[in-house]
Amino acid sequence: MMVSTDVDELEIGMYVEIPGSWLSHGFVRKRFVITSERQIERIRQSGFTRVLRRETGESDRTVEGAGTPEEEGAPPAPVVDPELFDLLHDRHLPLARKTGLVHHFCEKIVSAVFERPSPETIDEARRGLHDVVGVILQEEEIMKCLIRITSHDHDTCTHSVNVGFYGIALARAVYRGSDAHDLEELGAAFFLHDLGKVRIDQAILNKPGKLTEEEMEEIRKHPGHGFRLLHDMKQLSEECRIIVLQHHERSDGSGYPRGLREGEIHSYGRICSVADVFDALTSDRPYRKALSPFDALRLMRGEMNHHFQKDIFEKFVLLLA
Ligand SMILES: [Fe+2]
Ligand SMILES: [Fe+2]
Repeated sequence: MMVSTDVDELEIGMYVEIPGSWLSHGFVRKRFVITSERQIERIRQSGFTRVLRRETGESDRTVEGAGTPEEEGAPPAPVVDPELFDLLHDRHLPLARKTGLVHHFCEKIVSAVFERPSPETIDEARRGLHDVVGVILQEEEIMKCLIRITSHDHDTCTHSVNVGFYGIALARAVYRGSDAHDLEELGAAFFLHDLGKVRIDQAILNKPGKLTEEEMEEIRKHPGHGFRLLHDMKQLSEECRIIVLQHHERSDGSGYPRGLREGEIHSYGRICSVADVFDALTSDRPYRKALSPFDALRLMRGEMNHHFQKDIFEKFVLLLA
């Protein structure tokens, strides 16, 4: 049950609902788990003195990974919001408005997938993502804006959306001039790269501290979980297969799950790993502050440089310049 709570009483780990529509408050998701002090500050700065909060003792495990925040008896929200879909194709929308809309559209789709990972949801999500990736690819200015408005909160949905935008922009730069790649399916696959996390215990994913070796072992299973989930649901395109399985492989063979080396990792996997690491480094964690984009790139170029393919990484740096 949701109860009204003073904003001053909010804490990391609470599941909250922001009143009103996203158009009025600017939060892309109405309901979410608070994962950083910055989010509490944003709620306060948006003018709220009270929000709704799930009562203490009720499980939050469904929120980020595998369950539903819908009220009992309420029909699930559509994966692709028809109103947003129409707006997305309005050629007269100003750039800033359209960029916000694309961002919101993708957040809604990815949230739906993580909350209800069924074959129907994933099928509809992939089609919706194909469409929005088409819009992004048509309008380069939107793509440039999208990679600058990524949010730095750490949760799987926000991270998946950020990696989606970085991945699309980087794939576009890497494959410019080639028509050998299905960029729409590739884009959808970037958004779904961490889908396997729906099968990881939320207590591990949201742990407010460093993970033990055993917990890391659990986390390392998510590429395999994602592969099996998409395979069993008959939603496994070649792009999804490669990206889900290879986004944690590293050029020097230190990655997982297979310890592949650069020549064995598909360029889709190498693109996704750059996007994935950059977003992880620039996001707040309960136990450490986000790095600035400059410091993240410096770390990736320095002590992590043997993890990435050099020319792909350099293209990523140019994108953010
Ligand atoms: Fe991952
Ligand atoms: Fe990831």
